[in-house]
Amino acid sequence: MFIAANWKMNLSKKSISYFIESLQSVEFSKTVNACIFPPSTYIDFLLNSIGKLPISVGGQNCHYELSGAFTGEISPLFLKDIGCTYVILGHSERRCFNNETNEDIKLKIQSAIKADLNPILCVGEKLIDREQGNANKFIKNQIIGCLPENLDKTFIAYEPIWSIGTGKIPNYSQISEMHKHIKEIVFDITRKNIKVLYGGSVNKKNISNILKIKDVDGVLVGGASLNVKDFLAIYSAAVKHLCENNNIEN
Ligand code: PGA
Repeated sequence: MFIAANWKMNLSKKSISYFIESLQSVEFSKTVNACIFPPSTYIDFLLNSIGKLPISVGGQNCHYELSGAFTGEISPLFLKDIGCTYVILGHSERRCFNNETNEDIKLKIQSAIKADLNPILCVGEKLIDREQGNANKFIKNQIIGCLPENLDKTFIAYEPIWSIGTGKIPNYSQISEMHKHIKEIVFDITRKNIKVLYGGSVNKKNISNILKIKDVDGVLVGGASLNVKDFLAIYSAAVKHLCENNNIEN
């Protein structure tokens, strides 16, 4: 079970210190992996603050080249070098505001894998695609366009664009159907199983029901992960879910 906290362009040194201090007395479970994705300027600070707490840290983006004349860019090797384990790639905000294409994202994923990072490939349809019955086709094209040759370390996050930051989520059968669809597409192409996270308006109220949905292997949380109480409520719901389902020992 994986809980990813995407802080986007939020928080400060002070609020990060408060966040991490609030985690010091928490008993973490081995069954739930948590990873925080802070703004890149705070990755090092966050890693130092986390110390021995069992929380991973990841980048929100990286460049498709490992090094070179790319002013202002961040190599996946840098992320690895300072202690990151994961990197989010293809988030809809980057596809939309930075015009990232499937081709760009595939190159970034391949580069992240070369740097020994675990990429989280984000895919998601617009509301119009869903309303017109094209969501499955749209997601299939995104996956085919972005999937790296060697995907062993890759996760996919299904994040319908219309659900991000809106408080609206697809109904549970739509999430279940899409996660199954994504797993089937990846299996058909690679003969490998992939873990699929759900993202889009996940919060402490809906987390328990989302985790009950078949084929949901974790969540990618934006807004609700900025508040440490909400983050912990989501984390605890995941631990409780696993205990109740006896999937793995706590
Ligand atoms: P949200 O964002 O939880 O605020 O909807 C999720 C995301 O963009 O990853």
